Amino acid sequence: MKINQISVVFFSATGRTRRAAEQVASALPLAADWLDITPHAADGLARSFGPDELVVWAAPVYGGRLALQAAQRFARLKGKQTPAVLLAVFGNRDYDDALLEMQDIAQAAGFVPFACAAPVAEHSLMPGIAAGRPDEQDAQQLADFARGLWQTLQQAPAAADLRVPAVKGKRPYKDYPSIPFKPAASQACVQCGVCARACPAGAIPLEHPNQTDKTRCLSCMRCVSVCPQGARSVNKLLLAAAGKAFALKFGARKEPEFFIGR
Ligand SMILES: Cc1cc2nc3c(=O)[nH]c(=O)nc-3n(C[C@H](O)[C@H](O)[C@H](O)COP(=O)(O)O)c2cc1C
Repeated sequence: MKINQISVVFFSATGRTRRAAEQVASALPLAADWLDITPHAADGLARSFGPDELVVWAAPVYGGRLALQAAQRFARLKGKQTPAVLLAVFGNRDYDDALLEMQDIAQAAGFVPFACAAPVAEHSLMPGIAAGRPDEQDAQQLADFARGLWQTLQQAPAAADLRVPAVKGKRPYKDYPSIPFKPAASQACVQCGVCARACPAGAIPLEHPNQTDKTRCLSCMRCVSVCPQGARSVNKLLLAAAGKAFALKFGARKEPEFFIGR
């Protein structure tokens, strides 16, 4: 089948998911349009895609699930038997039900998620886990995946001929765990509002950017990574203790997983 347009719709709080998506997109033969659904302002966004388009969906795994705001924003996309590539990017622990959840949302929205992957990226919360990933080896595997899915598209007469692969995961999906790391602003905060505008959850009030609504906060670390003053952080002692235990259990390298429907 002929593809006339490639789009990448991505949620990436600290940029690692975006990097994995770039490694896939750069091995595809058409330049992609990039649609960022990370900020809170993307909440009302709706987009429709046709059957001659390819849409790459990319989001991080939080607590073995698809990041909640990503799930809600993906559900507003509309496909018309549109081929889709799904990337659930995880931080070397596990992706549990996240890829299955993404696949369910994509199918309900009219997409055919014939190519799915769980790439590994540096953990955005636990320091030092999968540091530097996706690395060269990941990049090669992601590029091979991109070439393989493109070949599958070329060989299929129409989207109806694409198969949706079985992926890991269970329904009902696991519950979101509560995550105790909520970033706070220090005295260095100049209330510029960069974090408030970037926050995916609307957890930082624009009129008081030195505050955090902990009930809304996802612990995604976006505010920490975008703050120009380095004024936002989580409790370092708590994080260091949790990080040590985490590294013992999940420090060993894991490999990305790939599924193409055949
Ligand atoms: C709140 C939170 C929960 C996470 N949960 C998981 C998880 O369950 N399994 C895992 O392997 N990585 C987990 N991670 C790591 C991220 O999935 C991973 O680092 C991802 O690449 C971050 O993408 P981003 O930089 O685009 O935000 C979690 C990260 C955060 C911030």
